[in-house]
Amino acid sequence: MTVLLTGAAGFIGYHTAVALLARGETVIGVDNLNDYYDPALKAARLQRLEGSAGFSFRRLDIADRDAVAALVDDLPEIDRVIHLAAQAGVRYSLVNPYAYIRSNIEGHVVLLEACRRLPRLEHFVYASSSSVYGANRKLPFSVDDRVDTPVSLYGATKKAMEEISFSYANVYGTPLTGLRFFTVYGPWGRPDMAAYIFTSKILNGEPIPVFNYGDMRRDFTFIDDIVAGLLAALDRPPATGHNGLPPHAVYNLGNHRSELLTDFIAILEQAIGRKAEVELLPMQIGDVKETFADIDASRRDLGFSPKTAISEGVPRFVAWYRDYHRV
Ligand SMILES: NC(=O)c1ccc[n+]([C@@H]2O[C@H](COP(=O)([O-])OP(=O)(O)OC[C@H]3O[C@@H](n4cnc5c(N)ncnc54)[C@H](O)[C@@H]3O)[C@@H](O)[C@H]2O)c1
Repeated sequence: MTVLLTGAAGFIGYHTAVALLARGETVIGVDNLNDYYDPALKAARLQRLEGSAGFSFRRLDIADRDAVAALVDDLPEIDRVIHLAAQAGVRYSLVNPYAYIRSNIEGHVVLLEACRRLPRLEHFVYASSSSVYGANRKLPFSVDDRVDTPVSLYGATKKAMEEISFSYANVYGTPLTGLRFFTVYGPWGRPDMAAYIFTSKILNGEPIPVFNYGDMRRDFTFIDDIVAGLLAALDRPPATGHNGLPPHAVYNLGNHRSELLTDFIAILEQAIGRKAEVELLPMQIGDVKETFADIDASRRDLGFSPKTAISEGVPRFVAWYRDYHRV
């Protein structure tokens, strides 16, 4: 199987590449290695992949039509696509909205347009987000719930990706699956996310910013569980629905445990061996107070079964952080 993997130098992309290579797949990694966060971390992930037989890398921007068309023309053997490249982050969408339009919307369409011409394409899996649930109040968040209230532009672009995908499944019959990831953390994680920011600040003796005065809950999902769900989805392209709906499916990938942010911090403190100095701050615009994934459909259709509690995953993140930064 030959997999085109976008965002291969990113957090989830890197781990996905490792898992695909371990099961003997050929992986064509794509990334533009942008500087939204330290490109040295992306380069370090990539360096670990580049030695592997079966892995090749192309540096390109997924919104660059000519570059993507040329890539796909060059590689007609691609039979699966995992599309993870995106402008991520809720808070940055208030700072640089156009990056979200370009990478998440334009980039997604450019990729779909190119890939629908692949002669052997069996399945195109793409990253959506729990952010699509926005201001929804009903918990846990279910894929059967309406998602019409994104509270950030990031969430709105992920919702748009789902709708655009549905239309491609309808018009071209391309089997597509969108995965709504819930707060992913683990080794090689993202420097703009809580686990990384808190660890860095606690180790530097700096106060950690805690929004909504700590009254937040997140469904923290360990990276290995996400990758297991992603590969399970990849191997199960949706069929055209029995009621004639196009071959498009959406699943939640979350841990199905909504943890208090303060409990997450306590486990982090224990793993680091230091107390955090906490700076309590109001809720940030664009953020949501609570996330909690209903994973009934993912269990039923994908056999998804997350295994990692934060008491196990957080120390694994801290161990990686100390090793990577030599602190
Ligand atoms: N990490 C999470 O908690 C989380 C939660 C929900 C959804 N997601 C989604 O999962 C996917 C992967 O997230 P991640 O945490 O690995 O983020 P990441 O930022 O580490 O990875 C994304 C990668 O895509 C690349 N990229 C961005 N724009 C690009 C473009 N225009 N062309 C080519 N490459 C580009 C970046 O350089 C980066 O390496 C994203 O689509 C993200 O929105 C992540």
